[in-house]
Parts: sequence; structure tokens; C-alpha cells
Amino acid sequence: MSHFKGILLAGGKGTRLYPVTQVASKQLQPIYNKPMIYYPLTTLLVAGVREVLIISSPEDIGRFESLLGDGRRWGISLQYAVQPEPKGIAQALQIGREFIGNDSVFLMLGDNLIYGRLDFLRAAMASNGDGATVFAYHVHNPGEYGVVEFGPDGKARSLEEKPKIPKSNWAVPGLYLYGPGAAAEADRVTPSARGELEITDLNRRFLDRGHLTVMPMGRGIAWLDTGTPESLLEASNFVHTLETRQGLFVGSPEEAAFHMGFLDQVGLAACVAATPDGPYRAYLQRILDGASRDQAMGLRG
Ligand code: TTP
Repeated sequence: MSHFKGILLAGGKGTRLYPVTQVASKQLQPIYNKPMIYYPLTTLLVAGVREVLIISSPEDIGRFESLLGDGRRWGISLQYAVQPEPKGIAQALQIGREFIGNDSVFLMLGDNLIYGRLDFLRAAMASNGDGATVFAYHVHNPGEYGVVEFGPDGKARSLEEKPKIPKSNWAVPGLYLYGPGAAAEADRVTPSARGELEITDLNRRFLDRGHLTVMPMGRGIAWLDTGTPESLLEASNFVHTLETRQGLFVGSPEEAAFHMGFLDQVGLAACVAATPDGPYRAYLQRILDGASRDQAMGLRG
């Protein structure tokens, strides 16, 4: 399998969340008890990605760097790049051209939250090759998203961005997978009427050549985006409900890094030591204690 990197796009205007986004971008705002960007970052880690490029506006990029650092404390590599203006999601691939090199890349939007068994991401990684893979999620309001229409053979037939009359209820979440060469393909996209390099136009280029796989995400997966005050509150409530019931955190990069073996017990202990006293530290300590117990019982290597 080729090497997989990740790009987290965390710029944009955040106009629908104004005035919350007046001095810090949407992806820095909390979803319940963590900054929003923690959730998509954790998704990438669980997919097995440990090299991530974070792209944001000139005003906000430094804030992301202060928040997340270079990733070393989590056993991963985090790099940063600026998108001077929000000129479209597909532009992230051009900005990330050198970072991507000859590897495959997940492009994920910093305001998307995906929760559930992520096996489908591994399946996508195994089958994507040089093409592109997007996912499809059944929603009641498809017109707010890219919409995919399936033919009787189960293959994608059309892709439309925010259609007035959607051809299906299948929306495309903000997580896309590309083989090497995606930046060059983005160069061939012409800006839309609103002056943006539209991700749907890029994906349609792959579709037209028969190089796009569209994988439906099962209903056991939760996909939330958090661009409006209502959806932000819903996402917070969702995380709160799960965490309170299970006693397990959603969207902890430390836990994901440890689970994936990017971070060993010594590394996790260092993370605990560097975390101020409070619920987040207590949670990491519990993970660490659980791992030591498992090791003592011979359950962990
Ligand atoms: P949107 O939610 O479409 O836009 P926005 O974040 O600017 O919000 P609003 O519509 O309220 O003004 O963007 C989806 C995600 O992609 C979001 O995480 C921001 C990000 N984005 C960029 O970083 N750069 C871009 O050029 C675009 C279009 C989006």
C-alpha cells in the first residue's frame, strides 16, 4: 500500500458563525470540551495517517501552530501552510503540492466530525490507487452539500454542488482521498462563478474518467458538520452524550496516537505530565493507567 498523508483545511470565512469567528477561526472553536480541529485530526490518526499539513488563513495559522505544535509530542508530524484567501477547497491540494509529493492524501475539512468504526477508510485506502475516493452519506438536506446520484449498477452517475433540486439524498462529506497527482488535476479545474476551485468540480473530473470511487458510509457512522450555530450545538451535545455515557473521549489525538502505536507509554506519560490539572489530564491518566494494567496482565506488549 502506498504512503498516506493528510491535509486538514481549516481556513474559510466562518460567516455563518459570526461574531464567534470574529477573532479566531471556526475550527478553533470548541465542540463541547475540545477545539474543533481535534476531531478531524483524530480521524486522520485513526486512519493511520501520521503526517498532516494544516492549512489556514494568514491570521489564524499561527494559532493552530500554538495549539497543536509540530506533533512530535504525539508521535506525528504536523506542518502548516497558509491559504491567503478562501479560494476553494480544491486549492488545498495545490497549496499542499510539495507536502504531498508522490504520496496519496486524505483531504479533510477542519469543521467535519466523523464518528464510528472507520474500517471503511482502510478499505478506501486499499482500493484507491491513482484515482479519487469520496464517501456518500444519507442526509435529509442534501441541497446544502455536494450531491451524488447513483445509477442502477450502484456506481456514481453524477455529482452536483449544492443543487436546487437534488437528485438523491446522498451528500459528500468533507473527507476525500486522492492518489498521487491530485494537485496536478486541481490545476486543470477552472474557478467557478464564485471564484473558487470547487472540490466538486475536481471530483467530477475523476468521475468523468471513471477514476472516482464513491463509497456509501453506513448509517452506523455519524457525520456532522459544524458551520452554523445550530450544528455546532448539536455536535457539542452529541460528543457530550457519548462521553458521559461511555466514559470515553471522542476526538482525543493523544489517545488515538497511543492506540495507533505512534506514541508509547513513555510518550503518553509525557503528554499527561504536560497537561494542566483538569478533566482532560485525568482522562489521559486513565488511559495510561489502563495500559499499565493491561501490560501487567500480559494483555499489551
Ligand atoms: P464552508 O463551511 O463552506 O465555508 P466557511 O467555513 O467559510 O463558512 P461560512 O460559509 O459560514 O462563511 O467551508 C467548509 C470548510 O472548508 C471550512 O472548514 C472552511 C474550509 N475552507 C477553507 O479553508 N478554504 C476555502 O477556500 C473554503 C472554500 C473552505
